[in-house]
Amino acid sequence: MISYTVHEDVNIIDKKLQDIATLFSENYGIWSSAAQGKSKGQRIRSSPTRLRSDCLPEAPARSFLVQAKDGDLLLGHVLATRWIFQGMKMCWITQLCVCKAYRNQGLATKLLAKLSENNDDDGFGILTSHPFAISAALRALGDGLDQTKLCTISDRIRDIMASCPVNYVRTAELRGSLFDSDVDDGTVFCADTKFFVDHAEPDTALKTVQSKGIKWPFGRLPEGHEFLAFIERP
Ligand SMILES: CC(C)(COP(=O)(O)OP(=O)(O)OC[C@H]1O[C@@H](n2cnc3c(N)ncnc32)[C@H](O)[C@@H]1OP(=O)(O)O)[C@@H](O)C(=O)NCCC(=O)NCCS
Repeated sequence: MISYTVHEDVNIIDKKLQDIATLFSENYGIWSSAAQGKSKGQRIRSSPTRLRSDCLPEAPARSFLVQAKDGDLLLGHVLATRWIFQGMKMCWITQLCVCKAYRNQGLATKLLAKLSENNDDDGFGILTSHPFAISAALRALGDGLDQTKLCTISDRIRDIMASCPVNYVRTAELRGSLFDSDVDDGTVFCADTKFFVDHAEPDTALKTVQSKGIKWPFGRLPEGHEFLAFIERP
């Protein structure tokens, strides 16, 4: 039976980070040809040190890890950071990864639902190139991709992201026609994070989403960019 367990701050010890770094390195994705100093096709790797610097900012931010396990076997995880923005509780999902053999069984959706359980967050954000990660976030935390309308997304997203304790979120450059009406390159709602993961797998996932008859509202994704989803809770 699969169990979902939440760990916070001091309980996110190096042993757990080593386990999720291994899962990430074996399952996340590969570098694209545009990645400087990396070989195209090489797996993107992580380590406990990297996870601490990229995804686990210092207090007063609070860090959360949810793990999905079958016995001792780690099947997937989500890392997230919570902080306060103008009196509102924000939660940013910084890493979401599920073992290849266990995908399309609802694990990512359940990990995110567990993350939000017993919390009264006012908003959730995620930057990702993967349409299935967007789908999981919108299903677990919002109304689902099929019901999403981007015009309802907070016009304060710039300020929210600028206040985020996670470096790559704070420095992401927003891009798309929703931010700038002069943009006509097919981008709608994404950000330049200079993360050059290969887009072949996300492109295939996007075709699958569209084949279900769902109109993809986030637009085109240039190299080094990630789709941006922000879900406000009433
Ligand atoms: C993105 C990822 C986390 C999704 O995990 P998952 O456990 O397979 O996701 P779920 O089973 O919860 O499905 C989430 C959504 O994607 C859809 N989906 C997932 N796999 C699918 C498939 N093979 N075919 C069709 N739809 C699929 C589900 O239907 C669901 O959408 P819905 O609720 O609107 O119907 C997983 O593919 C992954 O780890 N990818 C590599 C790492 C990555 O890119 N992470 C995200 C960035 S941080």
